[in-house]
Amino acid sequence: MLNLIFLGPPGAGKGTQAQRLASRFGIPQLSTGDVLRRAVAEKSALGMKAKALMESGKLVPDEVVNGIVDEALARPEALRGFLLDGFPRTVAQATALDEMLARRGRRIDYVLNLEVPAEVLVDRLSGRLSCPNDGSVYHLRTNPPKRPGLCDKDGAKLVQRPDDQPEAVRRRLSEYQEKTALLTGYYKPRKVLRTIDGVGTPEEVEGRIASALRDHPTGGPAQP
Ligand code: AP5
Repeated sequence: MLNLIFLGPPGAGKGTQAQRLASRFGIPQLSTGDVLRRAVAEKSALGMKAKALMESGKLVPDEVVNGIVDEALARPEALRGFLLDGFPRTVAQATALDEMLARRGRRIDYVLNLEVPAEVLVDRLSGRLSCPNDGSVYHLRTNPPKRPGLCDKDGAKLVQRPDDQPEAVRRRLSEYQEKTALLTGYYKPRKVLRTIDGVGTPEEVEGRIASALRDHPTGGPAQP
């Protein structure tokens, strides 16, 4: 069993790497952003609450995302392990997660912190295309779909996220600096924090993550 958290600013590659690792390990990836985007698309009560906040680049209230994660951890597939992508994002969320895991007799094995300079983040976000159905992520230049504008997996028309507009990107980066970056200090004393250079091709970054995980009892993922 492997319980992982991906930390890192918007555009650092959390979703890209989380998808790769989830399929390698056969453990579920839980992206709070994907859950919220689905809720917005379905116009559910949760989606209505989250829509304006997300589009402007602000964080959704802690109690809303804590509820999403608690529910996901209760699913049978999460017994094999999990990969949290985009959660926790505040100290209050991190302490809520500790409580959820303690209740289940579980703990975090690694917190993978992807480091990427701001100018690279902005370039990645401005060229990103996403599948509205399964959350698959592409980039116009660095990771284009096989057929232009269409998801490789289900053929859906790819979209640009509303929060990838420049104003929302600026807000997301400042929310990250203000509320999320300090989580490295929260996890460091537990010796679970692994800082990964997130610059390079997705394969290079995946290789660094594989090396960082190698001391885990499962042996970590095979080298890409
Ligand atoms: P969320 O969906 O979590 O967005 P984010 O954290 O801003 O992260 P991104 O999805 O933008 O980036 P990423 O790091 O996953 O990068 P990706 O792999 O896509 O959250 C969205 C919103 O939901 C928040 O603003 C908030 O409102 C709300 N929310 C979610 N969780 C919340 C929480 N816990 N609390 C409160 N609110 C919450 O890659 C980016 C691009 O770069 C892609 O195009 C990709 O193809 C490309 N790329 C990736 N890696 C590489 C590489 N190595 N080289 C070249 N290109 C690359």
